[in-house]
Amino acid sequence: MNTDIIKITDLKSQQDDINKAAQILISGGLVAIPTETVYGLAANALDINAVSNIFLVKGRPQDNPLIVHISDKKELYKLVLGINEIEEKLIDTFWPGPLTIIFKKSNIIPDVVTGGLDSVAIRLPENIVARSIISASGVPIAAPSANISGKPSPTKASHVYDDLDGKIPLIVDFGDCDIGLESTVVRVEGDKIRILRPGKVTQSMLKEATDFEVLLDKAVVSKLSDNEIVHSPGTKYKHYSPNAKVILIDSNFEEFKLFVEEKENENVFALCFNGEDKNLSVKALCYGNLDDEATQARELFSALRELDKLGAKTIYARCPNIKGEGLAVYNRLIRAAGFEVIKL
Ligand code: TXA
Ligand code: MG
Repeated sequence: MNTDIIKITDLKSQQDDINKAAQILISGGLVAIPTETVYGLAANALDINAVSNIFLVKGRPQDNPLIVHISDKKELYKLVLGINEIEEKLIDTFWPGPLTIIFKKSNIIPDVVTGGLDSVAIRLPENIVARSIISASGVPIAAPSANISGKPSPTKASHVYDDLDGKIPLIVDFGDCDIGLESTVVRVEGDKIRILRPGKVTQSMLKEATDFEVLLDKAVVSKLSDNEIVHSPGTKYKHYSPNAKVILIDSNFEEFKLFVEEKENENVFALCFNGEDKNLSVKALCYGNLDDEATQARELFSALRELDKLGAKTIYARCPNIKGEGLAVYNRLIRAAGFEVIKL
C-alpha cells in the first residue's frame, strides 16, 4: 500500500484534504491524524473491521483498549451510560484538551474497542485538524498513538512514516505536536478521581478544578507485581522504548557527568537537558530545559527516536523533576527504562 502524506498549512483552504481523510475513515480505512498530544492512528470506532486493523497494524495486544475521540461534547451521551457531577466538571474544565475520561460504555461501542471491558475511554482533543477530521467523518474515532506498539509515540508526521509507511493509506501532517506526551487518563471512583496515566493535566489541576481527592494509581510510578490489580491495561506493557537499553540516573548533573563519562564507549549516549551536552565528553542528546517540564515533554519521544537512528546501544538519561507535568515525563522514561533507575 502506498502511504500518502497531506500537509495542512492553511486549514480554511484545505477542506478537501480534511474530507479526503474523513472519506477514508468512513469507508473503513485507517488515517494517522495530528492531535495536541501525539499523532493518533484513527479508525471509525463503530466499525469492527477497521478497529481490528488498528491492532494488526500496530502489533498491539488485543486486551489493550483504545481511546474514542469525539469532536463535540454532545457526541458523548450516546457512547456512555451516564455522566456524574464530577465527570461533568472535568469535561467543562478540561475539554477540549489532553484529558481522557473513562466511562461505563453504552452498547454502541464494540467490544473490540475496549478489549472486552465494560468501560470506554473518551477524549475530546483540542487540535483543530483532529476535530475537523472527526467532525467531517461524522463518527466517533478510535485512535491509539500512531506508532508500532512498544515504540515511543510519534510527535511528528515523520515518526509515523518511519513506523507505518506502507501499512496505512494516509498521514495528515500538521507539524510537531504541542504537548508531546499522551493525554492524562482518569477514572472517577465514587468521590475520588484516579489518575491512570499522568499527562499535561496534572494532579493539582484536577484537584483545583473539582475539589475532590485525586489519587495516583500505583502503576504510574512503579512496576506492578503479577498479583496486583491492573486498572489500565496499557500500564502492564513495556512502552515508549527505543531499541537501545535506557537507564535512568537519579542525580545532579555533576554526579551524572562523573558516572556517564566513566562508561564512555562508542555505543553509549547520554540523554540530558539543553546545554549540558557541551559539558560532557560522551555523545549526548538533549530533551528540553532542566527546569521546564513542558519542553521535556515536547522533546522526549523525538530524542528517543533520534538515539535509535544514531545507533545508541545504552542510553543514560537524566531524571526529570517529578513535580507537575514532570510526573508524566518521568512515567514515560521509567517505562522506556523498564523501571531501571540508578540513584547516585
Ligand atoms: O493523547 C492520547 O491519549 C493519544 C492521542 C492519539 O489521543 N492516544 C493514546 O492512546 O495515547 P493509546 O492507545 O496509546 O493509550 C490509551 C491508554 C492505554 O494505556 C489504555 O490502556 C488506556 O488508555 N485505556 C483505554 N481504555 C481504557 C479503559 N476502558 N480503562 C482503562 N484504561 C483504558
Ligand atoms: Mg500508545
